[in-house]
Amino acid sequence: MIEARGLTKRYGTKTAVDDLTFTVRPGVVTGFLGPNGAGKSTTMRMILGLDAPTGGSVRVNGRAYRELESPLHEVGALLEARSVHTGRSAFNHLLALAQTAGIPRRRVEEVVDLVGLREVAKKRAGTFSLGMGQRLGIASALLGDPQTIILDEPVNGLDPDGIRWIRTLLKSLAAEGRTVFVSSHLMSEMAQTAEHLIVVGRGKLIADTSVRDFLAGASGNRVRVRTIDPAALATLLTGPDVRVESTGVDVLEVSGMSTDEVGIAAGAAGITLLELSPQQTSLEEAFMDLTKDAVEYHGTTTTTEGGSALTTAGVNR
Ligand SMILES: Nc1ncnc2c1ncn2[C@@H]1O[C@H](COP(=O)(O)OP(=O)(O)OP(=O)(O)O)[C@@H](O)[C@H]1O
Ligand SMILES: [Mg+2]
Repeated sequence: MIEARGLTKRYGTKTAVDDLTFTVRPGVVTGFLGPNGAGKSTTMRMILGLDAPTGGSVRVNGRAYRELESPLHEVGALLEARSVHTGRSAFNHLLALAQTAGIPRRRVEEVVDLVGLREVAKKRAGTFSLGMGQRLGIASALLGDPQTIILDEPVNGLDPDGIRWIRTLLKSLAAEGRTVFVSSHLMSEMAQTAEHLIVVGRGKLIADTSVRDFLAGASGNRVRVRTIDPAALATLLTGPDVRVESTGVDVLEVSGMSTDEVGIAAGAAGITLLELSPQQTSLEEAFMDLTKDAVEYHGTTTTTEGGSALTTAGVNR
């Protein structure tokens, strides 16, 4: 369990993390989402005691990180900047880490297998591809068999196979009852991995929600309806939040009503429907909609897609 209460970090006049209060619970994968510069890495560094909060606090299993008796056994982490002694083999790197924490060699063998590095364990870590390096980083995080796992953008730069591997691993760790907190700026990736989401923008909490509720509540969910009499149907579909748009000869796109409500209204008036289907907002759209005011580093391309302006977030590194 990770508990942040009023967690704040300022660098000079810049507020990187702004009064964040949230709880990360065991048993599910919790995604930590936000655009570039939102404060995700800073928050994770504070959880791990690598950065001191300017205000508020964050606790892991009820205690500040530095008060944990055997931190490696309680919290395993993979942060953005990875430092691996490049001259050492992967195995020796892990063994050295294990020895400083009193972790037996047997556990090193276990994690090497767990992350699929057996074949290359004797190779110098410096020769590793990005994906292999990522696996090695995760192996280090898991060495102490920690109850809490914190990973900062673990899928960055990985191929689909590597992404699928991490996704499966995180879910199985959560299923064992562990607390799994993983950051990303890719909504679509998180939706397939996480059950719960904590969304931040410009250091502030934007949403603390289950993935399911996040999607259900996303504005922009619409109903597509094809009918022999669109004009007549359109006059029936009214309400405070209801909007009807004609998007084809016999097609209406309705927002603010469910498929059931549209079907019932049509049926009551004897209007024949040819098609009735929910149009779910894509995850990426829902995410951008939610964070549009919180994107700090705008790119230069603005495209229009599906009626909504999508701004590509620029990269700030
Ligand atoms: N050591 C530092 N000194 C000054 N400013 C910093 C420092 N670390 C982070 N920041 C600033 O704090 C803000 C949050 O940065 P952070 O790295 O936590 O964001 P992030 O959500 O991890 O972004 P990304 O998706 O790009 O990794 C940014 O504006 C960043 O420039
Ligand atoms: Mg970051």
